[in-house]
Amino acid sequence: MTYNVGTGPGEITPDGCAVDFYALLPPMGEPEVVHAAVPQGASILELGCGTGRILRPLADLGHPVLGVDESPAMLAHCTDLPTACAAIETLRLDRRFDAVLLASTMLNTEPAQRRAFLATCRRHVDPQGVVVIQQSAPSWFDTVAPSEVEHGGIRRVVRSVRRDGPRADVVVAYHVGDRTWTHAWDSYRISQEELTADLAAAGLRFGRWLTDDHAWFTAGPVALPSP
Ligand SMILES: C[S@@+](CC[C@H](N)C(=O)[O-])C[C@H]1O[C@@H](n2cnc3c(N)ncnc32)[C@H](O)[C@@H]1O
Repeated sequence: MTYNVGTGPGEITPDGCAVDFYALLPPMGEPEVVHAAVPQGASILELGCGTGRILRPLADLGHPVLGVDESPAMLAHCTDLPTACAAIETLRLDRRFDAVLLASTMLNTEPAQRRAFLATCRRHVDPQGVVVIQQSAPSWFDTVAPSEVEHGGIRRVVRSVRRDGPRADVVVAYHVGDRTWTHAWDSYRISQEELTADLAAAGLRFGRWLTDDHAWFTAGPVALPSP
């Protein structure tokens, strides 16, 4: 079972993200990780770009970008960026990019959707290009627990965590001033064997870890046999 539910003011996306919350959330180092992993001026396709929180700084760093998201309300915050409103799983753009970005731990969705996301990455990456992925750090699955942290005016409260095999069901509340959003979602731990197999099934090969916590990594396209 997969469940993703959000509550709070404003529109909530089908995967439970609060649009107004993402619109005020600043980037937290993600653009720098991606920028360092791709060539100068590389074109970047972000799958699940939301309000452009990561994509906008990448455009400012000189990358031609395209953001894809299924939520028109999220994309309404991206009028300064090229975007397409579409589901990632069925996306078929008639072009390839130097880099395809799948950030924001979207890889930790349920396994069938994960494989569909990876196939979309493969369909849109240049033969010499790179896929950049952010997953939940493997150690997060062992350590996530009810907790509270405040940063930059955002109070993040992990209300509950329930573990079931590889899956963690997490409920988080975000408090900003007098506004509160909640997000309940399930996150699937991905073993190294599964990751290798799912990448291979999509026609991708693991590249390298970008961060010591193994949250960020690259993958590259495997040459397809000629027909
Ligand atoms: C967790 S938010 C991250 C947004 C952005 N990457 C960020 O970090 O600010 C996930 C975004 O992906 C979009 N999304 C989730 N599943 C999707 C799908 N299957 N197809 C297209 N967009 C999807 C949601 O609408 C949401 O905007």
